[in-house]
Amino acid sequence: MDMGPTFIKLGGSLITDKRREASARPELLRTLAQEIKTAIESDPEIRLLLGHGSGSFGHWEASRYGTRHGVTTPEGWQGFAQVSAAASRLNRIVADSFQAVGLPVLSLQPSASALAEEGNIVTLAVKPIQHALQAGLIPLIFGDVAFDRSWGGTILSTEDLFVHLATLLHPDRILLL
Ligand code: IPE
Repeated sequence: MDMGPTFIKLGGSLITDKRREASARPELLRTLAQEIKTAIESDPEIRLLLGHGSGSFGHWEASRYGTRHGVTTPEGWQGFAQVSAAASRLNRIVADSFQAVGLPVLSLQPSASALAEEGNIVTLAVKPIQHALQAGLIPLIFGDVAFDRSWGGTILSTEDLFVHLATLLHPDRILLL
């Protein structure tokens, strides 16, 4: 039987400096990328889904606006967009770090396809993730904002995304770093 994929979360407190707004840890990302590359080379059957948190990028903006608890006002929506932008900026840094060592990561933005209801995921596009895995790519997702049917908007953590995807992709292992 085919092995299920391995889900790996790179926590926001690992890959960013939480004390300083929008500060990533590039050397650590380089090391992580290299270690994951070595692991894949030693076991070519392995299939990975990577996720990462937001640390001092999205969390700073999110706590400024209280985004997780709902979005209703124009100021709240402005914050929603800012949280999304901050999360995407870190995602670019992470994706580039992995590309730099030759790992074929494909960044998929959760807010482009997710819909939540009272903070719980109702839908999230899984087909692009499945196609990426079949193609030998490494789908890369991240904690992000999402529209919410009851609350207007909210935030989905990497764990929220993993829990939802676990029922669809049946991972063998989930590693939280
Ligand atoms: C948080 O995601 C997402 C945003 C604040 C946009 P996570 O919950 O996965 O991030 P960390 O690991 O706590 O930083």
